[in-house]
Amino acid sequence: MSFKPAIWPRRLRSQEWFGGTGRDQIYHRGWMKNQGFPHDMFDGRPVIGILNTWSELTPCNAHLRDLAERVKNGVYEAGGFPVEVPVFSTAESSFRPTAMMFRNLAAMAVEEAIRGQPMDGVVLMVGCDKTTPSLLMGAASTDLPSIMVTGGPMLNGYFQGERVGSGTHLWKFSEAVKAGEMSAEQFLEAEASMSRSPGSCNTMGTASTMASMAEALGMALSGNAAIPAVDSRRRTMAQLSGRRIVQMVKDDLKPSDVLTRQAFENAIRTNGAIGGSTNAVIHLLAIAGRVGVDLTLDDWDRFGRDIPTIVNLMPSGKYLMEEFFYAGGLPVVLKRLGEAGMLNREALTVSGESIWDQVKDVVNQNEDVILPVEKALTAQGGIAVLKGNLSPNGAVIKPSAASPHLLTHRGRAVVFEDIDDYKKRIDDDALDVDETCVLVLKNCGPKGYPGMAEVGNMGLPPKILKKGITDMVRISDARMSGTAYGTVVLHTSPEAASGGPLAIVRDGDMIELDVPQRRLHLDIPDEELSTRLSDWAAPGDQPASGYAWLHQTHVQGADTGADLDFLKGCRGAPVGRDSH
Ligand code: FES
Repeated sequence: MSFKPAIWPRRLRSQEWFGGTGRDQIYHRGWMKNQGFPHDMFDGRPVIGILNTWSELTPCNAHLRDLAERVKNGVYEAGGFPVEVPVFSTAESSFRPTAMMFRNLAAMAVEEAIRGQPMDGVVLMVGCDKTTPSLLMGAASTDLPSIMVTGGPMLNGYFQGERVGSGTHLWKFSEAVKAGEMSAEQFLEAEASMSRSPGSCNTMGTASTMASMAEALGMALSGNAAIPAVDSRRRTMAQLSGRRIVQMVKDDLKPSDVLTRQAFENAIRTNGAIGGSTNAVIHLLAIAGRVGVDLTLDDWDRFGRDIPTIVNLMPSGKYLMEEFFYAGGLPVVLKRLGEAGMLNREALTVSGESIWDQVKDVVNQNEDVILPVEKALTAQGGIAVLKGNLSPNGAVIKPSAASPHLLTHRGRAVVFEDIDDYKKRIDDDALDVDETCVLVLKNCGPKGYPGMAEVGNMGLPPKILKKGITDMVRISDARMSGTAYGTVVLHTSPEAASGGPLAIVRDGDMIELDVPQRRLHLDIPDEELSTRLSDWAAPGDQPASGYAWLHQTHVQGADTGADLDFLKGCRGAPVGRDSH
């Protein structure tokens, strides 16, 4: 931790807009005064942009306007000037073709919203899955002082006396309906019980994982991730974050001071301990790419491999985020990692303190929610990175969400050329498949879908479900919802639409999965593999214009974070030319 606070007072970048009596400054300042801001708000105090992903079509973030008011209170209290600014919002639940296609667009919009406007520091208001990485990416590329406030998870859902987890139970219930074990009426009742308060998914899905990643990276105040959306302490956290960002601007504490290699290692280990989403792999690689930290897919295996999963939350375990909060939340997990020598204790956080100083005194309030290591859900949590002739650049699997008996498996491929092909044939009882087969789904990667949808945990054929079988090996270049489970190999790279070996798998080929050996193998002779690859032709129906074209033309592979090639790196936040 070598950070040295800058000297204060000094002239801030917002003064290029607001300071002085030039025509441009009068123009910038005068128009702002139409909102009733007194003149002394423009006297050189830090201007804090509250970048808000509030949207009524992003239901998980629909309460963020209220929370932003609390941030404003904190900014005012600390002597700053808060301005709330809407930014591109990506709803996991409804954005088509998939919110992931717009993560990079949102990151680009955030970056330029910061760069082009009078702000000295930013508060990133996020919640739903992609909103968290996109704002972190955009802020990292400008490197202006930034702090994250997440919206918090929904309260526990209950149906017929049982806990109902966002997403996790959706998959279970929809398979129960398919298998004839649940009626449509029961399904509707269960649906209503699943989302009973504002907030993001209440499981350790991607939203909770990314909130935990933000905290483990040091980009949010300690304890932020788990506070339920409707708990009064969520508002307190927002207010404290508002106070803190003003001091961060004065100290010039920037994302590049926090988002170090050490911080990413901490986050990878944390992801293993919480049984976090596979989506974190792609997002952290992309965030690292924005600050120039050389993080690779192999680092995920290296740093996550021996981390026991100790957070007993769905989809890997049995509780939900509400209980995680009552047990002490992420600080307890970070303390455990620190005690086990698995935390870079000196990593700096936005608080100005090291991560260890933030967590060293916390106490676990419930050892059935945050388990002792000897009772871990799995001794080897984390994400396993699989390599082989089917995934030369890597593929990932989350062992804690998989069936142990399938982690080593050899089976006959049943191939779907794309998601439409899968939807057309999966329910057909004539499909030649049994539970020992390997379902293969192609053309669902970053370019292929386009956008890399969360379709990798494809539902099983009804005739297999009816036998009482709930898991099979599935392989694709898609992603999987963080709330999902199963023996699902994801992010296979290079993807099929880029001519990766996944593209040339045929029905009847034998596939070998060996997670302990980190191997994914297509059992055909090398010459046959080469011939098939040289005969492969790229799919013809590419978008000709618009953002879909930009995305498909410039998106990189999942193994490096699926960022757009021209957005990688930090470009700073220089003040541009006056516009008048
Ligand atoms: Fe928004 Fe899960 S759908 S957090």
